[in-house]
Amino acid sequence: MIAAVPPINGSDLQDTNEAGRQYLQSFLDGQPLLAALITVCRLRLPERLADSPATADELASWCTSTLNAPDLNAEYLERILRVAHAYGWVQCDQDLAYSLTEAGTLLVPDAPNSMVPAVITRSFELWRQAAASMYDTVVTGTPVALDDCPTLYDWLDRQPPTVRDTFDAFMASRSSLIAPAIADLDLSGKRSLIDLGGGKGILLATLLRKHPNLLGFLVERGRVAQAARDYLAQDPDLAGRHQVLERDLFRDGIPPRFKPVYVLSSVLHNLGDDQAVTLLERIAKTMRDTGDAELWVAECVRPERPEPHPSMPLDLLMLTLTYGGKERTVEELARLLHYAGLSLLDVRPLPAGQSLLIARI
Ligand SMILES: C[S@@+](CC[C@H](N)C(=O)[O-])C[C@H]1O[C@@H](n2cnc3c(N)ncnc32)[C@H](O)[C@@H]1O
Repeated sequence: MIAAVPPINGSDLQDTNEAGRQYLQSFLDGQPLLAALITVCRLRLPERLADSPATADELASWCTSTLNAPDLNAEYLERILRVAHAYGWVQCDQDLAYSLTEAGTLLVPDAPNSMVPAVITRSFELWRQAAASMYDTVVTGTPVALDDCPTLYDWLDRQPPTVRDTFDAFMASRSSLIAPAIADLDLSGKRSLIDLGGGKGILLATLLRKHPNLLGFLVERGRVAQAARDYLAQDPDLAGRHQVLERDLFRDGIPPRFKPVYVLSSVLHNLGDDQAVTLLERIAKTMRDTGDAELWVAECVRPERPEPHPSMPLDLLMLTLTYGGKERTVEELARLLHYAGLSLLDVRPLPAGQSLLIARI
């Protein structure tokens, strides 16, 4: 059913085999290349190269002292650099000095839209277990990597702050890719925005800055709620216009507000169908009580037909990291909304393969 390899016409079997072999080999190569990308970030090479170009020797001594790694192997480091050059993360000039490529600048931690949190998250034990246990997840029907942890977020709560902060930063970076496009939409008739499972508040802050008519509310679990409070407090222009509510979306009520837009960004894909409908029903109930309410759902929507798309690998992550979470098509999302008593009004494309679904009672 999935036709990602160019169709084979059978006229030159040997060439076709070679093309197919190379094609499949590229997936095998993905694993060591991802490990190299993670290593480049953990060695903080892009951070150093953002200052000025450096030779392999200079990078080795910088890593040795900065990472406090007296046994750092300079030859191994050079092999990592060779790969980084070959795949365009860094470039090496004639004087054998390395510098960042355009893509490499996204590997600098404080760069706008930095991908470092996304890369480092892939090195966490749960993500490695998730990839290693995909087979077991399929044959047992349970995400064995979670090891009876109720959710990915409970796993995160048990991790050291560096792990939790990196994941939150990863979510924030995904959010900042779509936030400006969502903020461009018409919100003139609305008075409040309630971001449910709103993470650190990147989307909420972006929308509040663009729409001074709005009051913002963010509902989150305890640890993330505090991170959101800290983040939102940094912008004096938002003072007095937002409130972070530490609540559980399934246990506590969905807060009613005046002329509200409820937002669910990358929340439904963590949930199986039954749980997703339960959550949507809870939101719909509050929307019915408040009137003139909309629900905006941002998700990495799966195309109707299987094709290479950001939703495909993300769906596999949901398969292995959640109980029943998945990337859904517009039709599948519309069906869940319908079961919850909501109607899909519109679908708007967003950057990074995401979409915004607008629903009403
Ligand atoms: C995939 S993240 C998305 C964060 C943010 N909406 C974004 O788009 O970047 C899902 C968020 O839902 C929050 N969450 C998960 N379960 C929750 C619950 N039961 N109650 C409140 N928040 C929850 C998590 O803490 C997490 O921040």
